[in-house]
Amino acid sequence: MMEFYPQIKSVHVHLVMLSGLLFFIRGGAASMLGATWPRHALLRYASYSIDTCLLTSAAMLLTALYSAGAVAGGIFANGWLAVKMLLLVLYVLLGIFAMRAKFKRIARVACYVAALLVFAFMYTVARLHHPLGVLLYF
Ligand code: HEM
Repeated sequence: MMEFYPQIKSVHVHLVMLSGLLFFIRGGAASMLGATWPRHALLRYASYSIDTCLLTSAAMLLTALYSAGAVAGGIFANGWLAVKMLLLVLYVLLGIFAMRAKFKRIARVACYVAALLVFAFMYTVARLHHPLGVLLYF
């Protein structure tokens, strides 16, 4: 499995971008404009499918690393992956709130902006392999 690691990682990163882009468009229209089309079943299922593939690619990366014995004390030793997974939960919750029609517009927009910030921070945590992500430079 390790021989396909670079390809799986590339798929993972592309799915991350696709997932983020879809949320950027759907979340923006639903939270700021109050549009209903972002909640259309087609788009919702597209989003679920992309996120399922994203998590599958993440699981495949972990499996490959475990089978190569590269996890314990390896590239995750400083806890960046744990931070990324915690932030993922926060991102998902904020994303759900941003799309909720029953919330006031101001609350939806605040959740939308916070979700985008969490996503961007998560990306820097992953890229730098460090739990502090971009905060390392401040
Ligand atoms: C349960 C969720 C996730 C798990 C278990 C996971 C796991 C992993 C693993 C094992 C790697 C490979 C590390 C390496 O070889 O360098 C990786 C890379 C990466 N992940 Fe995730 N991931 C998850 C979700 C996400 C999300 C939501 C993002 C979006 C911000 C993301 C962004 C990235 C990026 C950008 C890389 C490439 C890092 C590099 O350039 O070395 N991941 N992820």
